[in-house]
Amino acid sequence: MYRSVTCGELRIADVNKEVTLAGWVQRIRKMGGMSFIDLRDRYGITQLAFDEGVNKEVFDEANKMGREFVLQAKGVVKERYSKNAQLPTGDIEIEVKELKVLNPAVTPPFTIEDDTDGGDDIRMKYRYLDLRRAAVRKNLELRHKMAFEVRRYLDEQGFLEVETPVLVNSTPEGARDFVVPSRMNPGQFYALPQSPQILKQLLMVSGFDRYFQIVKCFRDEDLRADRQPEFTQIDCEMSFVEQEDVLQMFEGMSRHLFKVIKGIDLPALPRMTWHDAMKYYGSDKPDTRFEMKFVELHDIFHKAPGFSVFDDAKYIGGICAKGQAVYTRKQLDALTEFVKKPQIGAKGMVYARVEADGNVKSSVDKFYNQELLQEIKAAMGAEAGDLILILSGEDAMKTRKQLCELRLEMGKQLGLRDPQKFSCLWVIDFPMYEWSDEEQRLMAMHHPFTSPKPEDIPLLDTDPASVRANAYDMVINGVEVGGGSIRIHDAGLQQKVFEILGFTPEQAQTKFGFLMNAFKFGAPPHGGLAYGLDRFVSLFAGLDSIRDCIAFPKNNQGRDVMLGAPGLLDEAQFDELQIQLNLKENK
Ligand code: AMO
Repeated sequence: MYRSVTCGELRIADVNKEVTLAGWVQRIRKMGGMSFIDLRDRYGITQLAFDEGVNKEVFDEANKMGREFVLQAKGVVKERYSKNAQLPTGDIEIEVKELKVLNPAVTPPFTIEDDTDGGDDIRMKYRYLDLRRAAVRKNLELRHKMAFEVRRYLDEQGFLEVETPVLVNSTPEGARDFVVPSRMNPGQFYALPQSPQILKQLLMVSGFDRYFQIVKCFRDEDLRADRQPEFTQIDCEMSFVEQEDVLQMFEGMSRHLFKVIKGIDLPALPRMTWHDAMKYYGSDKPDTRFEMKFVELHDIFHKAPGFSVFDDAKYIGGICAKGQAVYTRKQLDALTEFVKKPQIGAKGMVYARVEADGNVKSSVDKFYNQELLQEIKAAMGAEAGDLILILSGEDAMKTRKQLCELRLEMGKQLGLRDPQKFSCLWVIDFPMYEWSDEEQRLMAMHHPFTSPKPEDIPLLDTDPASVRANAYDMVINGVEVGGGSIRIHDAGLQQKVFEILGFTPEQAQTKFGFLMNAFKFGAPPHGGLAYGLDRFVSLFAGLDSIRDCIAFPKNNQGRDVMLGAPGLLDEAQFDELQIQLNLKENK
């Protein structure tokens, strides 16, 4: 062994012990006849002390060291003269007797400190150095602990971890697939799984009634802070269960994680229908850390026509920011600019302040009398000192989504989205289908294997768009951490759902024949869900992006700049695959 102790464990009780440490040079300080090296490893930092008067040879050696050199130091633990309360080892230092360079290092491209001077790009390129920083390392430690506790909980509940293949076939619906050419089957391609959905359902047919897997999934979609092209799911499935059983089981898992990792007793999770989530928050993943619920105002405004923007609007909705009538004209103009950004797309914003005497002063005063504005105030539950913000539009859903962005922005500005505060809920009763303008057809809102609510099955023939699914999402602080559904286990019903999605019986047979066939051999009723592990960890760590809890993440262009992936192939590899590269011009 190169060391007898780590750099994080020595305390005052260890004074006078002879120890050997090994680690990296974090910092060197030269102070006349004394030099100090902060030696770092995974467990912490220990100060090495070198006194010219005590041991000139080792002192001279120490002065030759550079940042990130790998050293071995032998010496005696001493009480420190000037203590460092920031460090757990801050009471002691090592009086070094022998110093050995295990490996020198070139100067790193950025400082390996919590507040590093390295920008995003350079840290991604040298990710292995970035991972030396305590802040990043802690996220990976948390990730390990969470995955471990997930396994512990699920094991105790009788779940079996089963691995499923990574080379599968492409399935329609969902995101775009990553594909892999097959040398042995020229011209044919595997797809990497977007999730093990069908495979876990087949495991239910096989009788593995409680399955889970911590598994990599791959989706070729546009990236955001909470999306990576490869990410990790805690994928779960159960047989002989109804929705309530699944919700209870996984509420239990979340409760376990909150308790053992964060020391928080999670109360019973409230449940909100998808319909209410959209109506009151304009989102299927509402951030319920704060109120500011939407109030619909069209019925009131339409009583007094005159302002054409509102007169033509199908939806008018407002939010009330308590005590914020102090917002200045400049701040309100900035909010208007915010909602007009192309990504949000509102045409404008109307505001109203409730003054100290209860009167309402609004940006549309010339169109509405005080009586009507008082009605708005009452509907909004607004009081003296409050600020009301209103958006309107032709399309209710679009306008709600815009109002959702405004609500989140206000929440941010008012400090109501504290990452250390957690608000969890289930969103339930999702619609089975959503209309796709792009495809001009109904698409599965969750996925095509989701079961409709039994009472809505007759509507499949008459009004499929209004059918509700036995589908649910777990939402924490406005992030969808997990989602799932009770599945269809009847071949006939599955066939019908495929038809509504626009598959001909032949297409359904080609793509999913094996699944429908499997259902004919006695499929148990089943259901499940999958959590996004990366999202769960980043919520617990209070991170803005899931990237920071992934050891080697991709950047926003889906590239690993450290590995240089994706990259080119050798001509010989193309030959083996019998593939000729002939890129189409960008359409
Ligand atoms: P879904 O597509 O909702 O369901 O995914 C489940 C969870 O996975 C996480 N997630 C992602 N995390 C990071 N980057 C991504 N690109 C990404 N995409 C999804 C989210 C999400 O809630 N097979 C179904 C589950 C089921 O029905 O059992 C599925 O994959 O946290």
